[in-house]
Amino acid sequence: MLKGKHLIQPDDFTVEELEEIFTLADDIIKDPDKYLDVCKGKLLATLFYEPSTRTRFSFEAAMLRLGGGVFGFSEASSSSVSKGESIGDTIRVVGCYADIAVMRHPKEGAPKLASKYSDIPVINAGDGGHQHPTQTLTDLLTIRSYKKSFSNNVIGLCGDLKFGRTVHSLVKALSRYENIKFVFIAPPELEIPSYITDELTDHEFYQTSNLEEAIPELDILYMTRIQKERFFNEEEYLRLKGYYLLDNDKLMNAKKDMIILHPLPRVDEISTEVDNDPRAVYFNQAKYGMYVRMALILKLLGGDANVKN
Ligand code: CP
Repeated sequence: MLKGKHLIQPDDFTVEELEEIFTLADDIIKDPDKYLDVCKGKLLATLFYEPSTRTRFSFEAAMLRLGGGVFGFSEASSSSVSKGESIGDTIRVVGCYADIAVMRHPKEGAPKLASKYSDIPVINAGDGGHQHPTQTLTDLLTIRSYKKSFSNNVIGLCGDLKFGRTVHSLVKALSRYENIKFVFIAPPELEIPSYITDELTDHEFYQTSNLEEAIPELDILYMTRIQKERFFNEEEYLRLKGYYLLDNDKLMNAKKDMIILHPLPRVDEISTEVDNDPRAVYFNQAKYGMYVRMALILKLLGGDANVKN
């Protein structure tokens, strides 16, 4: 039963609960009209202390497509946070007006702290370099749709694996499924943290900085950008930002049914020439993000019980 729960990190939900969300998302994709009014009278608050395009807009679109309403802020300076209001007080007040809240924050742990003070479900929309569980739902739904199964795949994760919260959340989520091999592709300065790999006791994995060498064995390639906002040193960012470029030449050695995912935004790590390759599914992935967030909102509000079959 997901009604009333918070989502702070992917393993807050069991594998079975995730499957419930994906099954509901499948049905929403198949027959969206059935869901037009199921959240009528409900309100979603979007509390974004950091910039976002996909996560905020897809949550807002999700709630509007379910017949609910949305309010919130897209920068902390337009709320009383700028006067020094705490996260605890902010979420308590938001809970007086909204039925569910989504929070993105530059500080790791901020959405978890909010959830401790909240009477309404709190969804982590990304906290610093830590976790991004709804991007993970998006990624999993995309993989499930194209590959039919999470198991029996080799997944390469490429780019900023040190600060990349989407990577951290996805690896944590996929590690609960059997027979997945992880290939971590990053420059030495941006390698995957050991607290993530330490948990991969039942999975094969290796680390490399060489995308060309790794690409032929991959079933899934998860590209990420080098994140300027996570660097303390501009020089270091400039040195690393062009480290990877996925282009048509590199794809010549990839499997014909490999899929390319990217949480977006892209900067220059995937050439735009790749966008027309049938293996490039990152824009469809962004669309799946809206459908899976519709399913998540419905589950956390218990609204799926009102859907007429
Ligand atoms: N993927 C993702 O989190 O994108 P935004 O930063 O635009 O929300």
